[in-house]
Amino acid sequence: MKMKSIILLILMMSGSLFAQVKGDIEVPYISYEIKMGKGFDAVQANCLMCHSFGYIINQGPQSRLFWKKKVEKMITHFKAPITDADAKTVTDYLFKHYGNGKLQ
Ligand code: HEC
Repeated sequence: MKMKSIILLILMMSGSLFAQVKGDIEVPYISYEIKMGKGFDAVQANCLMCHSFGYIINQGPQSRLFWKKKVEKMITHFKAPITDADAKTVTDYLFKHYGNGKLQ
């Protein structure tokens, strides 16, 4: 291939690249309100390997018992490898940030 045609090819390629990003492109963006704070690390490490945070937020504000049972369900039903200590940390986090103030 001659140098000239290589340059032409590059120009053509970059031309189509620009064409692709021209105009308004709306990327669907779903924002979940993820509250940072003590225990979030444990949620990230133990809960987000199988599903998104949306599963958690979709439940709405719930009691401590509800969250405790959900974490237990993940362990017993879905075989989530979560230690007792992490399960407690996650439950505390969920109740603090996505709790309804009730213990049961
Ligand atoms: C081993 C994989 C796995 C891990 C780890 C995991 N989950 Fe799940 N989770 C699932 C599956 C599978 C479902 C059900 C998906 C469905 O029904 O479509 C689910 C569903 C849920 C739901 C929706 C309500 C319900 O009862 O189905 C919540 C809330 C939830 N998970 C919270 C958590 C939390 C909190 C953690 C961390 C402690 C966690 N999950 C870790 C697999 C996992």
